[in-house]
Amino acid sequence: MEQYVIKGGIPLVGEVTIAGAKNAALGILAAAVMTDKECIIENVPNVRDTRVLLQAIGEIGATVRYIDEHTVSICGGTITNVEALCVDDEFIRKIRASYYLLGALLGKYGRSQVALPGGCDIGSRPIDLHVKGFEALGADVVIDKGMVTASAEQLVGKHIYLDTVSVGATINIMLAAVFAEGKTTIENAAKEPHIVDVANFLNSMGANIKGAGTNEIRIRGVKELKGTEYSIIPDQIEAGTFMMAAVATGGNVLIKNVIPKHLEAISSKLSEIGAVVEEYDDSVRVIGNREKRLGATQIKTQPYPGFPTDMQPQMAVTLGLSEGTSVITENIFENRFKYADELTRMGANIKVEGNMAIITGVSQYSGASVVAPDLRAGAALVIAGLAAEGFTVVEDIQYIQRGYECLEEKIQALGGKIEIVETEKDIMKFKLKVG
Ligand code: EPZ
Repeated sequence: MEQYVIKGGIPLVGEVTIAGAKNAALGILAAAVMTDKECIIENVPNVRDTRVLLQAIGEIGATVRYIDEHTVSICGGTITNVEALCVDDEFIRKIRASYYLLGALLGKYGRSQVALPGGCDIGSRPIDLHVKGFEALGADVVIDKGMVTASAEQLVGKHIYLDTVSVGATINIMLAAVFAEGKTTIENAAKEPHIVDVANFLNSMGANIKGAGTNEIRIRGVKELKGTEYSIIPDQIEAGTFMMAAVATGGNVLIKNVIPKHLEAISSKLSEIGAVVEEYDDSVRVIGNREKRLGATQIKTQPYPGFPTDMQPQMAVTLGLSEGTSVITENIFENRFKYADELTRMGANIKVEGNMAIITGVSQYSGASVVAPDLRAGAALVIAGLAAEGFTVVEDIQYIQRGYECLEEKIQALGGKIEIVETEKDIMKFKLKVG
């Protein structure tokens, strides 16, 4: 299996350009099948999750064409076998977000069937709110033999209140409501930048969606959608990950192609502990400190615009090197500290109690062999390896490759010593090469 091998202790210095937002792309690619016309979508991140979803979209009969590495053409007009529309578990097992096809196909054809997404590495990941939304719109939803089947003669707009702020449910219900008769209101909606991007994409196709980015989204049903050309927003979490890597390695990195407003919670926390964050129109410069250890702080993950749960592991690694004791409270998922044991093996002092982690900063991590438990925890362990003294091997990097495009190349361009290896021999060669 592929692994990362890293020689740490080198400050990251230089410039990095951020890719399109994975979590916006997954909703937008699914939404593209809602028109029979061609959609050209630019700035699609070339990561495993988007490639798998595009494969699923092709499997149901849409025409998918890569115009270049980051531009995709999708035409839903070639979907013919509506009755047998089924996204089977091969795709759902690989990426949960295939479930956006449930809302898109239900909205367009009045019927869809998707394998039930499994529990995930960071928590139980239920879909009860998605189902509640579809049923409120008049759909009949049956969960049987691991499949979710949703069908409706005619979807009718309704006022829907989400008990929990849910990104997935907000997007899926928005998709199902695009053609529903009359007005749909989603109250207590998620406000993440990727929700706004999906709504903007749908509106560019002729949908009538207002209020995305607030906690109340209003959708008026339309008859049909036309084709469009659209460019996906930059990835807030990839940008935040590189911000943390710059601080943890005491580096100086210009992170380009970002929307600084989307990074406010991250920027303010890094400034609070003593890092320098300079904001420009579409970039941020982040400067760590090689001479003086940064300070401690408290983090509570919240839905946007709060501190993102997807940045929690990366922040923990950075705080693990700070002076003093920090406390991280994970309020979104119930199992998102699985990196703690791996980080402890690198010398971190982190104690997990329920949904809280108490982190007492240490002056240095030491390289070790670690295993990536999930996408963001894996990225956090890469940051720890870059900051550590000595060599680190990260296994199970397929999790990380789900959400980060060419991560090792971007780190190499910043002076970091990291390579993808497969064998012990490769690791030895890397160690000899970098010394
Ligand atoms: C999306 O997951 C993201 N994934 C996650 O990013 C992100 O961590 C999460 O939103 C929160 O921001 C994608 O966009 C593909 P939720 P999602 O529904 O939609 C509960 C990454 O690293 N809930 O907002 O699955 C749920 O258990 C990934 O890129 C219900 O109870 O998250 C959780 O506690 C990891 N019932 C809370 O809501 C439901 O029907 C928030 O989950 C749905 C969710």
